[in-house]
Amino acid sequence: MVVLSLYRRHRPRTFDEVVGQKHIVRTLRNAIELGKVHHAYLFVGSRGTGKTSMAKLLACALNAEGGPRADFSPDDPASRAIAAGTSLDVVEMDAASNNSVDDIRELRENVALQPMAGGRRVYILDEAHMLSTSAWNAFLKTLEEPPPHVVFVLATTEAHKVPATIVDRCHRFDFGRPSLEQLAGVLRRVAGEEGIEVPDAAVGMIARAATGSFRDALGTLEQLVTYGGARIELRDVLEVLGVADAELVFEAADALADHDSRAALLCVERLAASGRELPQFIRDLAAHLRHLFVTQTLGEVPDTFSVTAEHSGRIAAQAERIPEGELLRGIDLLAAALAAIKDGSEPRIQLELALMKATRPDADLSLGALAFRVERLEERLKALGGGGDGATVAPPSGSGDGLTAAEPAPAQPRPASSSSNGGASGAVGAPAPSPAESAAAVVSAPFGDATTAPSPAPPPSPAEPDSSAASDPPQPSTSALDLTALRTLWPSVVDAVRAENAMVGALLGEARPAELEGDRLTVALPPGADFTRRKIEANRPLVQTALRRLTGGAPMLSFELSDGGQAGALTASAPMLTEEELLERLKQEFGAREIFEDDPPKPEE
Ligand SMILES: Nc1ncnc2c1ncn2[C@@H]1O[C@H](COP(=O)(O)OP(=O)(O)OP(=O)(O)O)[C@@H](O)[C@H]1O
Ligand SMILES: [Mg+2]
Repeated sequence: MVVLSLYRRHRPRTFDEVVGQKHIVRTLRNAIELGKVHHAYLFVGSRGTGKTSMAKLLACALNAEGGPRADFSPDDPASRAIAAGTSLDVVEMDAASNNSVDDIRELRENVALQPMAGGRRVYILDEAHMLSTSAWNAFLKTLEEPPPHVVFVLATTEAHKVPATIVDRCHRFDFGRPSLEQLAGVLRRVAGEEGIEVPDAAVGMIARAATGSFRDALGTLEQLVTYGGARIELRDVLEVLGVADAELVFEAADALADHDSRAALLCVERLAASGRELPQFIRDLAAHLRHLFVTQTLGEVPDTFSVTAEHSGRIAAQAERIPEGELLRGIDLLAAALAAIKDGSEPRIQLELALMKATRPDADLSLGALAFRVERLEERLKALGGGGDGATVAPPSGSGDGLTAAEPAPAQPRPASSSSNGGASGAVGAPAPSPAESAAAVVSAPFGDATTAPSPAPPPSPAEPDSSAASDPPQPSTSALDLTALRTLWPSVVDAVRAENAMVGALLGEARPAELEGDRLTVALPPGADFTRRKIEANRPLVQTALRRLTGGAPMLSFELSDGGQAGALTASAPMLTEEELLERLKQEFGAREIFEDDPPKPEE
């Protein structure tokens, strides 16, 4: 005997059993009661949200014993036949496999048939968006004026692929994704009816993994029963879903809190050894960091998390330990890792990279990481009671690059009522200086050798404000920061320029700081890169602004064509491009086009 799958056995049999989709149920009920059922419906929604189930319920109501009625009995012979898929008056077609003109021609001939039991013939066309254009054209007339006994229900997950001519001729319903509670509710109901024992925490986990599909949730429940019998244990769920057990997720988050890259790498090692799916772990860890962030923001662990009491306590504790900025950065880094994996990158490398950057912001020189470190320094300043007004604090010695950031202040969970004025790093009162300004203040004393820890500039004494200072802020000398540090910072300077002007940024990528004499910085470009130099020189202010923002200093810039004098400095990463090659690259990358003097002027837009 064929046993139907769990989700088919538990398809809603009446409109009352439908969970959610209230607006659709009500509209269809009224249409049936008022005898105003339309001849064509378009059901739109993601997988497993109940489109086919609703279409079948509509068919049951229209073929109910004694005439159409919304409160039909699921035990009516017609309802039973429809539920079993054996009704001759309800035709289910899957456009994924029947999408040709011939299929539609056959359907057109078929619609003329009178209903067997005197009700309505209901055609349910699943995956409707798969119909070919010519099939749609062949279908249009029939859809517009079908015989009175026919009702079409087109179901699709991709409404944008259904021609507008078709959409216009249908009554459209959009199915919402069920909430976690609704999914958990159906799981508990079905488990109860099937005599399956499943702990609440497992229900929560299955519901979360179902990502908004009733079918997937019930499919997982069925898999679990096949896997471990009618008594489901939490560890079975972890096994079957390949969800990294919560322990590893908590440990990875602890590594973030402790900035412990070694512990983070060991986590990845154990995860890989366990054979769990790495992308799933990344999603779980990102979801966990979001939980910590929400807990921090709400000041408590919300019930909707449906986690065990033990986990709830650990979430609250961890939320205290990781500053808001680091949580957000962690989530960003994990999202970037998932995106890279989607593009084909090696999952383990991407996960390790994300965790390295998250646990060692100082090793990451991207602009994002620098801005993040400035934010932490601001927190540190606040914690030290220093004004956020750009007063300087000497960076800890021994770093040798003058760029190391201070340790972050521990997370300040926001009191539940706090308004969003900046969270853990929320500054009240004087507006916080922009990250670049405070960076300049903190890592000022640029352009000199790093060995001598720069003496912090004395904070301006509020007593005697100097009018000239206000109008013309003093340019800190550029001798404090040495060439090595400048070279370390250079990628961020290029990033900053690229953010303002992609082309100049790309050209600047070919250049390297070659010499620093007092306040004069010589930047070298590969020999022959005349065009590049001219272009950069024409945009010198952009480079200077970026330098000032990142170092607080404004050295005089000069650009020269040379191999940078320093062995391998320029040749290593920048293959020489002739002017022609460069023009070609500009055309390819930026869609640039050469403009010649005698080109006819472009007609006004
Ligand atoms: N609103 C609901 N209430 C209760 N259970 C539901 C609901 N919607 C769907 N289900 C359950 O999920 C299963 C799958 O639903 P259904 O086949 O109707 O989804 P669908 O939207 O047609 O999916 P697909 O786009 O993949 O065809 C149903 O058999 C039923 O068990
Ligand atoms: Mg369907």
